[in-house]
Order: sequence, then structure tokens, then C-alpha cells
Amino acid sequence: MGRLLTQLELLTELEPIAADNVNRHLSMAKAWHPHDYVPWDEGRNFAAMGGVDWDPSQSQLSDVAKAAMITNLLTEDNLPSYHRVIAENFSQDGAWGTWVGRWTAEENRHGIVLRDYLVVTRGVDPVELENARMIAMTTGFDPLAVAKYGTIDPSEVPDTGFLLGVAYVTFQELATRLSHRNTGRVCNDAIADKMLQRIAADENLHMIFYRNMCGAALDLAPDQAIEAIALTLMNFQMPGAENPNFRRYGALMAKHGIYDMRQHLEDVVMPVLRIWKIFERTDFTAAGEQTREKLADYLAKYERDMLKFEERRDRIAARQASKRDSAPLTTTLR
Ligand SMILES: [Fe+2]
Ligand SMILES: [Fe+2]
Repeated sequence: MGRLLTQLELLTELEPIAADNVNRHLSMAKAWHPHDYVPWDEGRNFAAMGGVDWDPSQSQLSDVAKAAMITNLLTEDNLPSYHRVIAENFSQDGAWGTWVGRWTAEENRHGIVLRDYLVVTRGVDPVELENARMIAMTTGFDPLAVAKYGTIDPSEVPDTGFLLGVAYVTFQELATRLSHRNTGRVCNDAIADKMLQRIAADENLHMIFYRNMCGAALDLAPDQAIEAIALTLMNFQMPGAENPNFRRYGALMAKHGIYDMRQHLEDVVMPVLRIWKIFERTDFTAAGEQTREKLADYLAKYERDMLKFEERRDRIAARQASKRDSAPLTTTLR
């Protein structure tokens, strides 16, 4: 491998491509306003203002829709943590600075509209939501720390905050897009569905920006970029692990097709790797090829684990279905 490019060299070399992509984003992004997506007529005061506090019977959302809405909103709420990571690892100057500001403002809009909708419609418990937000914000989330302290010694990954950041957000934006879209489907409410589709469209444009930048980094510094991509995928974690209900909510969301292992592999990871032509590229040195092999091994193991998980899940579902079928008629009618 030739000399490693420093973070500053990467940012400087890629700045013209960042400028093109910021312009592309601005030409495609639609202006929209959170207040247009909230049914304000449904709102009423809480007890502190002479009204009634939240009660589960007031929510029209199913348990899975509630779990997904809370998880998705907490992801948006954690924005200051991502902003810190992105702002620290991207430049504040030129196109990079413009992007960080614009992206942060758009992400903030997602948190605003989701929160307004949920509080006005009494979709979820606002106290649980606020407590969870406090925990999420106090703990913070650093995707780069997750990747750096995963399976590889951080000293082997010098000065790559930018590459790790851009690789992580590419996959995370696409994962979030999918989660918002599928949450819209289980809400059983046309207003929520429209709002979540609107947010998902933004996430798609964000993903394209980061995917293009990471793709350009692959062309510029193939070995360094593949290292960051492999590290990211091999240690990938969605934000939210600090939420006490994270596992339970995640399991519910997986069970109802909002976000599961297969969707992560087939709808998030592989489409991006194909666009980057990861397994066809000829510009890696021996070190880069070794990293690519590690990634291929990881993906093969992931697929085996996924199949095992699905077999187990289907077995449990079949057992539950046969229990229901064999239950006495009086029980099933009740
Ligand atoms: Fe967002
Ligand atoms: Fe986004």
C-alpha cells in the first residue's frame, strides 16, 4: 500500500465532489414544514393545564407501531451526538461546512414532526418518551467508537474518523429510511404514513450524499476506504442501545417486518456494496484485498446466522399457530 492519506488530504481532495453533491442535494430536496403533517385538531391539554394526562387507551397505535415510533424518534433525538461526530470529522469549511449545517437542520425537522405528531395524537406516553430522550442524550452515541473498538486494534486505523463517519452514515441513513417507511405501514393511519414517507424521502437523499462521498473516497484511497467500510459493517449498531426497551422494541420491529436481519443484509448492506462495486474492484493492494476477504467472510457468517434465526423464528410461529388452532372454541371466541 502506498502512503496513507491524512484526514486533511482526504477532505481537501474530496471537497469539489462534496460541492457537487451539496448542489445536487439542494436541487432535489423539497421544502416541507412539520406543522403541515400534524393533526392539531386532535390535540388537547394535559393535566398540568387542566386537561387529562396520557393513558394507553387514548392511543390508536398498535404495540409494534408504538415501539417503532419511539425507537425512530429517539434515533432522530440523538442528533446532537451525530452532529458532534460529523462536525468533528468533516471540515467546517466550504462545501463540507455547508453540508453539515444543512443536514443537521433537516434531521432536526424529523425529530420536530415526529414529536409533535405523537404528542398531539397521544400515540405514545409522553413521559416515557421524555425519560428515554434524557437517557439517549445523556449517554450520547458515537458510531466511530463502536467501529474503532470492535474487532480491530484502533492503532491499526490511523486518522480515519472521516472515512468511518461517512461509511457509517451511508448505511445508517438507508436503515433509517427503511425503518421510517415500514413504520408508516404498521401505523394504520394515513397521516402518520404520509409523514413517515416524507421523512424517509429525506433520509434517502442523505444516504445518496454519503454514499457518493464514500464512493469517491474508495476511488481516491481504496485500501483506507475498504478498511473503514469493513470495520463499520462488522461492528454495525443502530443508535438506541442505551434505551432500556431497545431489545424488546427491536425484537417486535423485527417480528413485524419493520427492520430485521434479512432486510439489513438485502435492503441496506448489499445494495450499497454493489453500487461501490466492492467485490469487482481491481484497485486494492494486497492489504485491501485481505480486508475485502475479511468482509466477505463476515457477510457469509452473517447470512448463516440470519438463516438460523429465521428457522428458529418460524418454528416458534408455527408452534404458536398450532396452539391457537387446537384451542377450544370458547377460548378462541373470547
Ligand atoms: Fe432523520
Ligand atoms: Fe438522515
